[in-house]
Amino acid sequence: MKKIYGLLILSMFSIAVFAQGPATGIAIIPEPVSLTVGQGHFNLPQHVSIWASRDSNMAEVITFLKEKLSVATGRQVTSGSSSGSTIRLLINRRADTSLGDEGYRLSVTPAHIEIRANQPAGLFYGVQTLVQLFPKEIESPEPVAHVSWTAPCVEILDYPRFQWRGLMLDVARHFFTKQEVEQYIDQMVRYKFNVLHMHLTDDQGWRIQIMGLPRLTQVGAWNVKKVGYFGTFSIPAADEPRNFGGFYTQQDIRDIVEYARERFVNILPEVDVPGHSLAAVVSYPELSCTPGADHYQVSSGERIREDSIDNTLDPSNPKVYAFLDKVLTQVAELFPFGYIHMGGDECNKYFWNKSDSVKALMQREGLQNMDQVQSYFEKKVEQIVESKGKKFMGWDEILQGGLAPDAVVMSWRGMEGGIQAARMGHEVVMSPTTFAYLDYMQGDQAIEPRVYSTLTLSKAYEFEPLPDSVNPKLILGGQANLWTEQVYNMRHAEYMTWPRGWAISECLWSPRELRNWDDFLSRAEVHFGRYDEAEIKYAPSVFDPKFSVTRTAGGDLQVEMSMEVKGLDLYYTFDNSFPDQFYPKYSGPVIVPKDAVMLKVISYRGNTPVGRLISVPVTELQRKSTRRGE
Ligand code: ACM
Repeated sequence: MKKIYGLLILSMFSIAVFAQGPATGIAIIPEPVSLTVGQGHFNLPQHVSIWASRDSNMAEVITFLKEKLSVATGRQVTSGSSSGSTIRLLINRRADTSLGDEGYRLSVTPAHIEIRANQPAGLFYGVQTLVQLFPKEIESPEPVAHVSWTAPCVEILDYPRFQWRGLMLDVARHFFTKQEVEQYIDQMVRYKFNVLHMHLTDDQGWRIQIMGLPRLTQVGAWNVKKVGYFGTFSIPAADEPRNFGGFYTQQDIRDIVEYARERFVNILPEVDVPGHSLAAVVSYPELSCTPGADHYQVSSGERIREDSIDNTLDPSNPKVYAFLDKVLTQVAELFPFGYIHMGGDECNKYFWNKSDSVKALMQREGLQNMDQVQSYFEKKVEQIVESKGKKFMGWDEILQGGLAPDAVVMSWRGMEGGIQAARMGHEVVMSPTTFAYLDYMQGDQAIEPRVYSTLTLSKAYEFEPLPDSVNPKLILGGQANLWTEQVYNMRHAEYMTWPRGWAISECLWSPRELRNWDDFLSRAEVHFGRYDEAEIKYAPSVFDPKFSVTRTAGGDLQVEMSMEVKGLDLYYTFDNSFPDQFYPKYSGPVIVPKDAVMLKVISYRGNTPVGRLISVPVTELQRKSTRRGE
């Protein structure tokens, strides 16, 4: 038997082709380091038996695989016996040096599936890849009949490029329940992300129970429900109920951490100070250096004017550091990950400038300006974090005024802060707005829910976390951030995260030289189908047009439509009816007819619609014509 197995592998290599994509039907994201397609298929039998090496954390891998292979297929999947096993999950007794802690080798032959890794995490990622080899219906939460449950024969060698492959979920601007956070973890591990950064505190909410500081969650976790455009909301009236929001109890946090651990995800907690701290200030006004803070309310999304509300902690007040010590003792205990993120971004210095107590601090400590005051604060916070046995991390503003000695920098205002920190010998995670901000619109403002900036899928796919000029060991990896000012529910969080999260996953996992936009796009399209089966939302924005509008010399409104994707046709109408492939095909700039009120447009590939039916009021086109760069 062994010999036949060996021969099969040999013959597979002799006819091997290297290909994902339409020709083979294989569409793995993120792209593996090497993939060789063999001949034939593995057929999932009625009874699947899994044999796994004994190791801690294997139970989680086996449970995951059992569920994945049984729910949609209706197959009986058992584990335990080595004889006659169909799937083998093996921990290498002698470590395979090419794989590291998260790599794996996956072999699919007509008779068997075998995954080998040095650590259970590698097997878990091998399992994720294996699942992507089966038909999309395997993602269904319900049994699906009449599917041929086969996987193509392949040999895959795979391991990550970066150790930090993060997504950030802002649970402060809008609260997401424990179950929703777990759902998000389920989605991220499909694409081999391994860090979930939870932005736990901000002006709109404090989301983590802290023993001994009850007002943080009695008061700080609640505001008034509003919808529309965040930042423009009306100021709530005094009698409006403050019942919108929520928080995680410490047991909730333990549950989330354990759920993540079982899926090889670390949770990075963020307590954002000294700015973005209104929820803490409202709960405990003595943390502020500004008289009158006791009249503040937790923000419900109304604009916070820099000179009207002090949302910062007082850097000159010993009580602030005692408060942070109390918070961080508990945070450090609850989250086993080695890093704690302490924010540090966008700190408003207006009220610090006005404070006598801050002035006295400056004199006492010889601080020349407000950046140095923040640096003083950050260094003290670093000491507290380190006293709990954790590494101190912050957004790149913590560089201003002097970086704390062992700080880790998360670079968001471009890559520059990260480069600067790495040159000074600090660890860095790259998370630049330019490539990795998932709260930005992913298409034209005439179509997408409005946010102040845009990040297209193709731009996200250009994310390169490793700059040429720095020690690569200091660039831990990268992260994409989903801020949720304009994200009101989980379905929209999914919409904003995918497919850009897939692009980012490939930038963080796959070898740089394998990056290929056209190939990625064809695989992303396959994954849209998989997400349809899994009932997870995604944005099809890449198939929608972008509009640019000008006035002709004669004063007519002229619309130009462009596509991020090649090879699609656009059909449009101005007569309010619904365009399809029998309508005018777009071939160049069009004049908007004089009395038209609506442009409708849809994209097709051949005879199949791929984009959404888009309706853009002519008033919106007129508005665009007066704005440059939209
Ligand atoms: C940030 O986006 N303010 C870190």
